[in-house]
Amino acid sequence: MLMFCGAKISILRFLYASCEALFFEYQMCKMSVENDYKVLLQIIRNRRSVYPLMFSDERVEDDTVLELLDQANWAPNHKKTEPWRFHVLSGGAKDMLGKKAGEWYVNNHNGDAYSAVKHKKIMSNPLRASHVIAICMTRDPEGRLPQWHEEAAVACAVQNLWLAVSAKGLGGFWSTPPFVSIVEELIDMEDGEHCMGMFYLGVPQPDLHLEASRGAIQDKVKWYR
Ligand SMILES: Cc1cc2nc3c(=O)[nH]c(=O)nc-3n(C[C@H](O)[C@H](O)[C@H](O)COP(=O)(O)O)c2cc1C
Repeated sequence: MLMFCGAKISILRFLYASCEALFFEYQMCKMSVENDYKVLLQIIRNRRSVYPLMFSDERVEDDTVLELLDQANWAPNHKKTEPWRFHVLSGGAKDMLGKKAGEWYVNNHNGDAYSAVKHKKIMSNPLRASHVIAICMTRDPEGRLPQWHEEAAVACAVQNLWLAVSAKGLGGFWSTPPFVSIVEELIDMEDGEHCMGMFYLGVPQPDLHLEASRGAIQDKVKWYR
């Protein structure tokens, strides 16, 4: 009888310890989910457009650029077309973009339309960046989707990239200038591919504080109950 009671107590102790361990695991898991959520919100809110003028002279490693683009690659996309294509310009290729953009500016801005400040800015943006990434979209070869589905997927990929850039302490912005055709001349695109702008990537100058604001979300939401 005594032995039987002892066994029962051992089983109860074992069950109690197991429950306690499970509860502890559940609490940890809950805390981790809450923490992930907080971190994600912070990353979303802290992402900013960081312009080339705000970059330091430091360069980003190519491996890091690839790692960041790998996050872009996880964007949602319809019919698994993965329509994003990236052409990474650095060194001389990037400087060539500055030269060509400057030429484009001069050819398209005569007389009063010409501004020396704008001309200089257009030429120097690629020089100041560590890498310039041409953001391209390729169409589904079977044409199963409207173009905007593919463009939306590319925009999702850019947001992934931008958030990863920001979380890594780097900076950048999506530029969509009228001289995008110049970029297309410098890169090797597939049939049906087209350029949706460039992502300027760099290392922000230290102590850079960028303010941002948005209108209230309540003004952009309609509820139907
Ligand atoms: C599709 C797209 C195109 C953009 N093109 C330009 C551009 O050509 N020049 C520019 O200065 N900023 C451009 N931006 C960046 C916006 O100006 C910037 O996101 C906006 O001012 C909000 O600032 P934030 O990114 O710091 O929140 C673009 C952003 C998006 C999403």
